Amino acid sequence: MMANRFEIELSASLMCANLLHLGRDLDALTAAGIHRWHFDIMDGHFVPNITMGFDLLKAVTHYSSLPTDVHLMVDNPEKFVEDLVKSRATRIYFHVESTRAPHRLARTIRELGCEPGVAINPATPIDMLNTVLPLVDAVLFMAVDPGFAGQPLVPHIEDKVATFSQMIVSHPPLAVIVDGHIDLETARLMVNAGANGLVLGTSALFLKDTSFLEAVHRLWAALDLQGGVR
Ligand code: DX5
Ligand code: ZN
Repeated sequence: MMANRFEIELSASLMCANLLHLGRDLDALTAAGIHRWHFDIMDGHFVPNITMGFDLLKAVTHYSSLPTDVHLMVDNPEKFVEDLVKSRATRIYFHVESTRAPHRLARTIRELGCEPGVAINPATPIDMLNTVLPLVDAVLFMAVDPGFAGQPLVPHIEDKVATFSQMIVSHPPLAVIVDGHIDLETARLMVNAGANGLVLGTSALFLKDTSFLEAVHRLWAALDLQGGVR
């Protein structure tokens, strides 16, 4: 069955945008048909990098009406959720590896009025998600070890997504998103495996001499023309 464009959500990874001309990029990405913003927050501990913070998040959520998903790559994610909600995050992904109490954290995020999402690193088994799934709206599969744009793909993540997609057949609908090294080939692999959302960075969207419009067009073409896409 061909993928229906309206089934697949495209998120732009803003750590890859031109932060000196961010408003211009947000306008162009919106015009290109991007559905959501993906906002990576890193603390230099959970991952060896420090990226964007609350002030930039507020600037984005006040500037654009598109939903903004925060990907928390931090230790002690509990410390940040209240300020993220005040910054108008739509969805908050916390890493299942970063907290001892994922169920309490997911409930707190929802009680604060935000969508809870759980993120999982490439090496973490999907069984780690079993008990928290009923409490979240989305699962973010990392296809690279998190922390930087432009990293090599970890092999067989599509198998992990496929196994997970089978696992949740009887669950209420979940957003199944893949983040990291999503190019035209891996986009097709992940959608074929059951992903219904893709985080786009330097591998498919923020390309040297290609407009966002052309990059998104190529992505839809890659998903539609390959046939057999889910
Ligand atoms: C990696 C980030 C991703 C990354 C995706 O830690 O979470 O958003 O920027 O972009 P590419 O395509 O460069 O891997
Ligand atoms: Zn991310």
